[in-house]
Amino acid sequence: MSSRGHRSQPSLRHVSSINDLTNAEIERVFAVADDYLAGLADARVPHKIGKSTDVGGGRILATLFFEPSTRTRLSFESAMLRLGGRTLTSADPATSSASKGESLADSVRVVSNYADAIVLRHPRDGAARLAAQYAHVPVINGGDGAHEHPTQTLCDLYTLRRENRDLRRLNVAVSGDLRGSRTIHSFVYALARFDANLFMMPAKGMELPEHVARRLREEFNCMVVPKSDYLSDPSIDALYVTPEQPNQLALIPTAEIAANVQINRAIDAVYVTRFQKERWATHGQDYPRVDRAFLDAPSYGPKTKVMHPLPRVGELDIALDDDSRAIYFKQASYGVPVRMALISLLLGLGKFGRLAEAEGGFPQDRLALYDQPHDVGIRCANPNCIVNEPHDRPYTRNRFHLVTGERPRLRCWYCEADRSDAAFFGRKTHRPFAARSDSHLAEHIDKGDLVAFAGADEAAAAGFGTAVPGGVGGAAGLT
Ligand code: NCD
Repeated sequence: MSSRGHRSQPSLRHVSSINDLTNAEIERVFAVADDYLAGLADARVPHKIGKSTDVGGGRILATLFFEPSTRTRLSFESAMLRLGGRTLTSADPATSSASKGESLADSVRVVSNYADAIVLRHPRDGAARLAAQYAHVPVINGGDGAHEHPTQTLCDLYTLRRENRDLRRLNVAVSGDLRGSRTIHSFVYALARFDANLFMMPAKGMELPEHVARRLREEFNCMVVPKSDYLSDPSIDALYVTPEQPNQLALIPTAEIAANVQINRAIDAVYVTRFQKERWATHGQDYPRVDRAFLDAPSYGPKTKVMHPLPRVGELDIALDDDSRAIYFKQASYGVPVRMALISLLLGLGKFGRLAEAEGGFPQDRLALYDQPHDVGIRCANPNCIVNEPHDRPYTRNRFHLVTGERPRLRCWYCEADRSDAAFFGRKTHRPFAARSDSHLAEHIDKGDLVAFAGADEAAAAGFGTAVPGGVGGAAGLT
């Protein structure tokens, strides 16, 4: 173990976020899924895998589920069985050692010895990243709290690609609980990375979390066209446009961009989500419902596809099921070939090879890492983050990436929520750190020289920043 704490072996690939995969790797997963479908589809149902292969050679996949699931768990298990592998399941938290108070870190260290890969579903944001840190087999995130659900996104993108032949420059509307739906968070990152235009249709008060919206703007080049500039459809709250060339949009008025997107083409797909009642204290009002009348609006056309990760609980009219635009059951069916492909590439099964060692997608290795023991200093402010679970906290550190952009901030290494209220102090000197520039700050964070606090008062309570010789007072901010 390094002085920085536990790190997973460098050669292991995990999928905690859709941003752990590069675009090229996502396309590679799809090419392998195409291959499996071409060879193993059910003769009567072309989107269903109906036959098995033996490339899995008896390898074992463990599904470790601490939250309810039908599609994700069973499609992963079906995928492993179709590959000629085997499965182990722990799907009922009440009968697992978690009910005795076992930490997630201990559970995955143990299960790593029983299986060749683990699929984890967990109610806490960032649980998959923590599990990956302690497992010695690949960990795949099957949904962690409200954070991400990257393999659902692989199924969603694969479905769009099969329907549209191309993944680039799609117009996609996302509707419902954009705040609580982990499927949405992975999906919008990936769509932006494939240059989509995103039409946000949140239920009232359920807009994208601010840190997700900010990442779309800062890292994935989205430009936001506010509602007032987009008059055609009152149900659209905001339009996120991703230009092919990042600087292309800078000179064009937003109203003109909106008009162009609108005139150019109807929405290719509307992605519906349910109200995530398990992640909210109160029930939402006026939840948007998608039915035939909804699809009569001018933004939609005869080719607009209707998608849903399922389960649906009233927000998607069952009368649409016979409509050729409804593709949600096909979307669920593609879960098997897509997950077969991902398992193959993580375990190096058959002729397809293995994903390279490097982590892809989002360039987090280039971001400074603030990594300190959790007995002092700032901690993740997201109450649902895995670091704030008492059983799991001792296995974590106060670990954040430093992100500079519109406003410099610390992004939790586990759940990726961020905070911009950090003030930095020398770990040894206890004196405020005056950063000359973002890179100066990054350098000292990386060296482990600094401790961050949420403001000067918190620092003073811990004995930092007070009684500074020479009278330097106050905490230095991030800039
Ligand atoms: C989703 C999930 O669990 O996040 N379900 C799924 O995996 N298809 C969506 C949901 O529960 O609403």
